[in-house]
Order: sequence, then structure tokens, then C-alpha cells
Amino acid sequence: MRLSQTGDVWWKSAVFYCADVETFQDSDGDGIGDLRGMTERLEYLADLGVTCLWLMPFYPTAGRDDGYDITDFFGVDPRLGTLGDFVELVRTARSRGIRVIVDFVMNHTSDRHPWFRSARRSVDDPYRRHYVWSPTKPRTSKAEVVFPDQEDSIWELDDKTGEYYLHHFYKTQPDLNVANPAVQEEIARTLGFWLELGVSGFRIDAVPFLFAEDTYPGSEPGGFDPQRYLKDVRDFVTRRLGDAALLGEVNLPYPQQKEFFGGADGDGLNMQFDFNGMQRLYLSLARGDAGPLTSALRERPPLDVTSQWANFVRNHDELTLDKLSIAERKEVFAAFGPDPGMQLYGRGLRRRLPTMLGGDQRRIRLVYSLMFSLPGTPTLFYGEEIGLGENLDVEGRLAVRTPMQWDAGANGGFSTAPRRRLTRPQPAGLWGPEHVNAADQRQDPGSLWSFVRTLIRRYRQMPQIGWSDVEVLDHDVPAVLAHVCRCEDWRLLAIHNLGADDALVTLDLGTVPEGTVLRDVLDGRDDQPLDPSGRVEVRVDGYRGQWLRVLTPGELAYA
Ligand code: NOJ
Repeated sequence: MRLSQTGDVWWKSAVFYCADVETFQDSDGDGIGDLRGMTERLEYLADLGVTCLWLMPFYPTAGRDDGYDITDFFGVDPRLGTLGDFVELVRTARSRGIRVIVDFVMNHTSDRHPWFRSARRSVDDPYRRHYVWSPTKPRTSKAEVVFPDQEDSIWELDDKTGEYYLHHFYKTQPDLNVANPAVQEEIARTLGFWLELGVSGFRIDAVPFLFAEDTYPGSEPGGFDPQRYLKDVRDFVTRRLGDAALLGEVNLPYPQQKEFFGGADGDGLNMQFDFNGMQRLYLSLARGDAGPLTSALRERPPLDVTSQWANFVRNHDELTLDKLSIAERKEVFAAFGPDPGMQLYGRGLRRRLPTMLGGDQRRIRLVYSLMFSLPGTPTLFYGEEIGLGENLDVEGRLAVRTPMQWDAGANGGFSTAPRRRLTRPQPAGLWGPEHVNAADQRQDPGSLWSFVRTLIRRYRQMPQIGWSDVEVLDHDVPAVLAHVCRCEDWRLLAIHNLGADDALVTLDLGTVPEGTVLRDVLDGRDDQPLDPSGRVEVRVDGYRGQWLRVLTPGELAYA
């Protein structure tokens, strides 16, 4: 049985969509999105073609990091609904063919979590070792501080007990001592709980920070192997649910990412975001030169058959450019976020894609065409399908987390509450709901929404894309990326012109049987016969992408 046909490894050809309950749809008019609202909008996601919904944290929270500071791992933030609402959401999603995965924060809790409240009572408290403590203040290198605008150290003095606790993120997010078996048991209990409620897996937050290194005072003696622990987590979840998926946030260079996938049989994380490819895509866009992206695709380590890259162009955080050199980052800043108010932490941009591209529909579509044509699993952040913009008046990273714009009416159809009570203000003017909304675009076959929907359909019609290896072809037009997705005998040639000028590229696909053609599966142009030598000239308009199936006479009979 071919794995690609069974659906057992469903995440290899899924379409992921990340949404924040708080900003998706308000059902009760209090200005805050909620689980019931999201359930009402599942029809929209099914129509778009989404097959897996990733929910950002919706748990009880102290509200200092938009839900990533959890006070109870087993509950729902009462502003967003109840556990009952959650189960209804998961059940309704399933009935529409959509799986749900949930954000899972195992690196830290809120400082208001009962464990931490207890832990800071005394050095002998039973929960003390749930966290990482030091009697003296260890030195912090600048690079270790994730939010340098707010923090200057990753250690904070706890006044009462006179010791310092570790926090890689805000000081209100003490790091858990994941090496402690008691903490591991709590983590397993939590994962097991949400699996029982019907989720299909987890997006694991902040993986590289998870582990208090041996050298940290207070961490577990005897060595702690992060990869081994993740394998344990994987074993645990798959014992509970055979095809549970773990999607990890691992923003590390490729060779280190590779280790988090586990050994040759992929027994670690099932999926990881391709942060390296994403960052070099922006450099390529800024330069109008496919070179940086080409090198990323060539460096991408090959994966075992069950592991997968999650391809994305934007997410809920700043567009991080931390893997680029300082000079490269400056190029991207100059092109897409020259105003210091658009930049964050010196490493990223708090913007969404369409605004960065000046609303240029050709370039926006080019980017999504490219993303859906790359081997991996496409992962959208809510609103990308309609070209939602950010609101720079909203503080920090939250600028890109404004409420979804459903229609041209009041509050973009997100809520019936008075505008001032919305979770966050929506952008105004050209990016406001009157101009950018789902209802109008769903009616319009020429809209971005319709284009993204077509991409999703094509991707789903050709699940081989998700299972493919990628080969980037050599040619002499720097602005053009030409890559071949290959899955056994199946081949798709994708050509994307990152420059404004039309281009003619000469490609060598290797010898093909007589009668082979290139079939345009995106724009439906006439078949182009392919010379048996496999050499072909293709004309690509500026800022356009083409998807061409390589169809041999044998395949033509079924195509
Ligand atoms: C990564 C998340 O994406 C980000 O939003 C959050 O602030 C940190 N992890 C801390 O949980």
C-alpha cells in the first residue's frame, strides 16, 4: 500500500490554517471572538479548502502574551467560551472534513499559574522544581533575550525567596523545568486531555527553548536530551492517537532542525515550519532574484517519508529575519518596512504580506503560487486569503492580529459590539473592511480569495506535491525560480518570475518519452509539446507563476 494514498500520514498533504479564536468571529456581541463564532465560520474554511485548523492558545491566561502565558492547561479562557464549546467546534470541524490542532506551550507557564504561585512560596515548596532557579544571577548574553524591547535578562529575581528564575520570554512567563519527570508527567496529562477532546495534534511552541541546559543552576542533574524527550512525547501521543501530528516551532538552522525530526524513521516532530526558506524568500523578493531561495531549497535537508515541512509566508509573530545577515536584513527592511515603526526587535517586521508588497496583486499572488507549489504543507495565517493588512497603531506583534474582516459592514462583520470594544482595532482606509473583506471576494472569481481557493484545490488535487522531493533547475535568468516537484514518476514543473520584466527561460528536464507534454494546471493554457531531449523554452510574465505538469503519453491517458 502506498503511504501517499492511504491518508495515514495526513499532514503530508494537508492545508493548514492558523486562527486566533479571539480575533476570528464574535458570536455574542461582546467584541471578543469566541469558540461559538469560530464554529459558525467553519463553513467558510471548508469552502476555502482548509483541512486542518490550528488554534492559537485559547486557555485561561494572565493576558500578558496574547494567550501564550497560560494559567490553566485544562481549561478555556472564559471570555472565549467553555470546554463544551470547544468539543462542539472540534466535532463540527470533523464533520466538515477539517481536523483541529491546538497550540501547546510546554516551555513555560504564566507567573500566575498555581504551580508558580506555589513554587515561589519557599525554596522547599513541592512545585519549586517545576521551574528553574539559581541562587545567583547567571549572565545573559544579548542573543538569549527573545523580547529585547521589554527584557534585558532571562533571569528574574524572586523577592520572596531571593533566588532567580529562568524565563526565556517575558518575565511573566517562567520556564518550566522540562527535565523534571514530574513536569513531564503534567505535560503528558495535558496532551492526553486534549487528545481525548478530539484534537488531531499540537503545534508545539518555542521548541528550542524547551530545555533548561544542564549548566543552568537548578536544572536536572545527569544530562537531559531534548531530542530523546521529544521522542517520548511523540510515543505518548501516538499511543493515544495513532496519527496524531506534532508541528514544532523550531527556528534553527536546517541541520539542527533535522535533528528535531528524529532519526531515519522520523520519530521526533512530524512537522516543522521552514523558517529558513521563508526568510530567504523575502530576501529573494526584495532583490527580485531567486538566488537566496534557490540556495535555501538546495540546503533543505531531505526528510524521511513521514516528516514534513510546513511552508508559510506569514504568521502571528513579527516576520522574523533573524537567520539573515545584518546586511541582508537591511535590504529586506528597506524594501518592505523602511519605517522604524514597522520594525521590531531589530530583527523583524510587524507587517502582513500584502502591505509589504504595496498591495500589488501580481506579487501577492506570485508569492502564494510559489508557496503552494513547494514540497511541504502550506500553512496560512487567517486573513491571508483575502489580503488582510496590519494595523500599525496596534502595539508590537499584535499589529498583525486584528479581527478578521468578513464583510463591508460595521466592524467588518466580526462583531456587533461598539467599535471601541473590539479585541483590537481593524485597519482603516484602503485596508479597512469596506475594501478588504471575505464576502465581496467570495463573490468575485477574480479576487485573491478565489485565487487562493484555486491554489488550494490544485494542491489537494495533486497531493504528490506534499510528498515530493524538490529539484531547482539551473538556467540563466536570475529573477526566475524553476523547480520540479518529483514524487516517483510524477512531476510538476513550477516557474516563478520574481522580477517585473517578462522572461524567457530555457530549461533542461532531462530526456522524456516521445509525445510528452507540459500541461498548464493553473491558467489552463494549451499543452506545450516537449522535445524528447527535455529541453524547453518557457515564457513567463513579470511577477507571474506557472504550474506545468510533465505528462508522458502513458500519464496523458489518465490526466
Ligand atoms: C512563540 C509564539 O509564536 C509567540 O507568539 C510567543 O510569544 C512565544 N512563543 C512565547 O510563548
